Amino acid sequence: MKKGKFIVFEGIDGSGKTTQARMLAEYLESVGRRVVLTAEPTSLPSGRALREALSGKVKKSECQMAVMFVDDRIAHNICESEGIRALIDGGVDVICDRYYYSTLAYQGQSTDYEWVKSMNLRCPEIQHPDVCIYIDILPEQSLERIAKGRDSVEIYENMETLTKVREQFLSVIHDLENEENICIIDGYREQNQVFEDVCKSVRQIL
Ligand code: TMP
Repeated sequence: MKKGKFIVFEGIDGSGKTTQARMLAEYLESVGRRVVLTAEPTSLPSGRALREALSGKVKKSECQMAVMFVDDRIAHNICESEGIRALIDGGVDVICDRYYYSTLAYQGQSTDYEWVKSMNLRCPEIQHPDVCIYIDILPEQSLERIAKGRDSVEIYENMETLTKVREQFLSVIHDLENEENICIIDGYREQNQVFEDVCKSVRQIL
């Protein structure tokens, strides 16, 4: 059986990646492909523990956060029925909202980048995506969108962190340019214009 494709969306908070991931899932389904839309942190027990830490309710160190994200990612990959590996092997396309590029950007800048990179990229139970689509917006555009759309903010949603994380995302992309297929798309445009570029990036792997 032909394997499914593994597509990841990344970007700082408020970049519109979740909306674009949903639009892509609908589009691929409409052309007859089987698709599962998923996200990290997951809804598995490991992902729920992360949400508690992200809300600030439970205190974790930055290294603990890095390990927790890796643990959640492994669970996401190997879960028997709905795991990324099982789905792709079964011919289903998996679209994931955030993946290891986020860990490299967030925890990679707050701990040790090479340690975080090796835990993620050299782990035999973590699949590498066919394409990563990075939706780029500026930190001020991110905060403007977060303020409009939500009542509560998470620990990483402030100007200083978003600025550092965006810079780190761009440096991660540069670091991985020879080993991973990553497309950068300007996200501060009308949804459909962004989506046109998303489709262009995905067509090259179908
Ligand atoms: P979300 O806003 O996309 O649901 O992600 C929740 C938060 O988790 C977001 O602020 C980014 C953070 N995060 C990391 O710090 N490292 C990771 O590996 C992932 C997947 C998310």
